[in-house]
Amino acid sequence: METRSIALSRTNLGPASRGHSAAEGGHSIERLPRHLQVRLGPLLRPAVSVAGGLEPDRVYRGDARSLLPKIAPNSVALSFWSPPYFVGKNYEAYLSYQGWQRLLETVIDQHFPLIKPGGFLVINIADILCFKDASMPRISAAAVDRRRSVVTREDVLRAMSRNPGMNRYQIARLLGCSEQTVDRRLNGNNIRGGKYDVQTRVKIVGGLIEQWGLSAGFYPYDRRIWVKDPAWENSRWTTLSYKALDEFEYLYFLWKPGITSVRRSRITKAEWRDWGARGVWTIPSVRSNDDHEAKFPLELAARVVRLLTEPKEVVLDCFLGSGTTAVAALQTGRRFIGIELRKEYVALAKRRIASARTELRGA
Ligand SMILES: C[S@@+](CC[C@H](N)C(=O)[O-])C[C@H]1O[C@@H](n2cnc3c(N)ncnc32)[C@H](O)[C@@H]1O
Repeated sequence: METRSIALSRTNLGPASRGHSAAEGGHSIERLPRHLQVRLGPLLRPAVSVAGGLEPDRVYRGDARSLLPKIAPNSVALSFWSPPYFVGKNYEAYLSYQGWQRLLETVIDQHFPLIKPGGFLVINIADILCFKDASMPRISAAAVDRRRSVVTREDVLRAMSRNPGMNRYQIARLLGCSEQTVDRRLNGNNIRGGKYDVQTRVKIVGGLIEQWGLSAGFYPYDRRIWVKDPAWENSRWTTLSYKALDEFEYLYFLWKPGITSVRRSRITKAEWRDWGARGVWTIPSVRSNDDHEAKFPLELAARVVRLLTEPKEVVLDCFLGSGTTAVAALQTGRRFIGIELRKEYVALAKRRIASARTELRGA
């Protein structure tokens, strides 16, 4: 469906193209109010390929920041990706926190020219649940159920005020507990957990995505929650706290101004009811992360692709990993462009794409 790129490209601004855009469904820029035509006109460069540029249906190895500028302007209907989350994976070890922020900010900014007007950038990301923050007070939790000594903080304070000349050892002897217990009750910490380690907090990423999206020229359009399996084994922080398990991630939909074709028949009525119109998607996460550290499920990519694009449109993933988005694009009759930094993942993605093509040919 080339409606959007044809209808909203600059070539439509001339009178000769008007009949054509009307035939395509009347989505031409002339339908917009004059002030919007003036504002959006400069965005609407024709979707012509760039010399030496990235072609659809290929995987490219390299840093997304070097390769994204080589994609033809206004040529991508949807970009869907899951970036490094800054949670200590091997593939993000080259990034500092500032470097991670700069990577995402730059990549979002580089998307604006290449997305078609009315098209989308959808980012799958999660909050960082154990974000190290050296400025946090080093106070650990009091595991009251596990307390072996019945001595309370109030007992210690009372004993100290009644016996102002006593040191901690004497107070401990008086109360029948250890000096360490007196110290814990007074300072609210213990050596194992709190005194020396940098403390961790939640880093909420949604605000950053909103800010970077808006400054690139996009508008936040929607957000959904992907509920995955509860990661009990990764959730050590839940045992001595009131924190929840790691069991959901976000999908942030950023929209590039332009006319968006809304075609209800892209998915079935049952699919609209079950997930198309729903804010929460429950999809099991990929269990066998043996060949890549953090794949997202094929079903997640397939839903985003089917909801937001038409067959033959181009879907981009510039953090391609094992190639899931490309496989979803192929299986649903879309084209793809894949970018991935690491050689072994490029090879993995190419293998998955090749077997998806073989399966499709046999189908
Ligand atoms: C969360 S994973 C994506 C997984 C993918 N969605 C899948 O299903 O397999 C992020 C990927 O980004 C890649 N990556 C990290 N920095 C990159 C960069 N600067 N440019 C391109 N890819 C990068 C990593 O190697 C990793 O494969």
